[in-house]
Amino acid sequence: MNCVRTVEIGPAKLLLGDAYEIRPQLGFVDHEIMDPPYVLNTSGAGKFRKARPYLDQIADLGIDKGFDRTIINPMMAGSVCVFCHNDQVPQLSSYLNGIYDRFVLGFWGKTNPMPVANKHLVPDAEIWIRAWNAGYHPVGELADKRRVIRPAESDDADWPVLGIMERVHPSKVYGHPTVKPLAVMDTIVRTCGGDIILDPFMGTGSTGVSAVRYGKRFIGIERNPQFFEIAIERITAELNRLESAAA
Ligand SMILES: C[S@@+](CC[C@H](N)C(=O)[O-])C[C@H]1O[C@@H](n2cnc3c(N)ncnc32)[C@H](O)[C@@H]1O
Repeated sequence: MNCVRTVEIGPAKLLLGDAYEIRPQLGFVDHEIMDPPYVLNTSGAGKFRKARPYLDQIADLGIDKGFDRTIINPMMAGSVCVFCHNDQVPQLSSYLNGIYDRFVLGFWGKTNPMPVANKHLVPDAEIWIRAWNAGYHPVGELADKRRVIRPAESDDADWPVLGIMERVHPSKVYGHPTVKPLAVMDTIVRTCGGDIILDPFMGTGSTGVSAVRYGKRFIGIERNPQFFEIAIERITAELNRLESAAA
């Protein structure tokens, strides 16, 4: 396998290297959850630009050019959940609708979107598309099976909300511009049946933290050594926390 490094931490296996080379060699898994490079225009933002350095960081990391969607293959995963930019929805949803039996669009609300609309609408909702074949449908509590994950306090006690950590820019904590809130990942992971979840664009390991939290085996691939290290630290810390809580 063209892997620069493999690290096993309890039920998690992390692979440092290129997802397009490594993923085909890993075989079938129950679920893939991925937050691949978006297609993003990283220019502009006017007077907000200085306060939003993550746009420069996204461009520097080369995660503004989209991804090769053929990495998603129903022969390799019973279900997939893909985060994407608004403008990727038409192509990505027709692709997923063509290769899987069912699909659904979901959203999570951002509390800190760019406060601009630029002749469009404010980007206060991020989109995920979930698709599955028979036997890999969403499972669990009705309260978790929401298409919209709310950004802030809600008067509906059953509705998943983002915690304090998510509201204070996890990108500032982990140095990665697009860290996904754990409240979002937890909700998605909890509705995955089966045993194993794979994230080919792992970043700082948010999917992995939620996966081990809910007793899943996890495989993560990341090409950037700095984010790979952060993923190791986060997943190790979560497993230690779970162990202490169980003691
Ligand atoms: C949008 S970020 C994922 C962030 C992640 N959800 C988190 O919470 O930290 C996409 C990640 O994919 C990685 N990436 C991009 N292309 C890749 C490739 N071909 N193989 C492996 N990783 C890749 C980038 O380095 C980046 O960390």
